[in-house]
Amino acid sequence: MIESKKPMASLGDTAHRFKQQAGEQAASLVQSGMVIGLGTGSTAIFATRRVAARIHSGDLSGIVAIATSRASETAARCLGIPMLTDDIPREIDLTIDGADEVDPAMNLIKGGGGALLREKIVAQASRREIIVVDAGKLSPRLGTHWLLPVEVLEFGWRSQLRLLESLGAIVTPRIADDNLYRTDQGNIILDSRFGPIPDPTGLAGKLEAHAGLVGHGLFIGLASDVIVAGEAGIRHLHR
Ligand code: 5RP
Repeated sequence: MIESKKPMASLGDTAHRFKQQAGEQAASLVQSGMVIGLGTGSTAIFATRRVAARIHSGDLSGIVAIATSRASETAARCLGIPMLTDDIPREIDLTIDGADEVDPAMNLIKGGGGALLREKIVAQASRREIIVVDAGKLSPRLGTHWLLPVEVLEFGWRSQLRLLESLGAIVTPRIADDNLYRTDQGNIILDSRFGPIPDPTGLAGKLEAHAGLVGHGLFIGLASDVIVAGEAGIRHLHR
């Protein structure tokens, strides 16, 4: 079994600096009065911290935020960002989130941090979904560098595992602290090694057709912007 949050290939030590650059760049797009979505992970947290700093300096006012995970909610509250509770009362103006893999069409694999379901709910409710990544996340084809996380109910989870295997994946239940990893919803994650996925939209459709399979990390057509930081500087890609 593999550990959670482990890529198939190392991204290298400089990734941290690039994550910070991408996250902070995205935070500069937040404007006063916005409802914003706060992503999950080591890149999105840089955006969250910068948003908090802008609020406290008086540069931003009237911000309310919704978090994509319990972890990001706790972080945002500690940073003093005004938070909405569990529900999404109206459209979210802009969400800043990370990704594990980004293809040339700006489709994504997400869920390395286990927050894929809430991340997708928030992304689908957002007018703008800004993805922040270091250049090591760019990929010619989804699945090349990363396992596809699939969130399943505990009830019948082995049948979902067999389904994923029948679709060609090598499947490993995610483990944390020697137990099955649990999402914020109490579900299980099956990390599925498909290798390069020729038809992500088709695969997403097949996965969504199955009861008990409550979410997957393919984010097709959801990113409006991708901010990529790397040796060549910061690039801002738009859909
Ligand atoms: C969490 C996610 C993260 O956004 C994704 O794993 C990227 O994380 P990081 O910025 O730490 O590399 O999808 O579920």
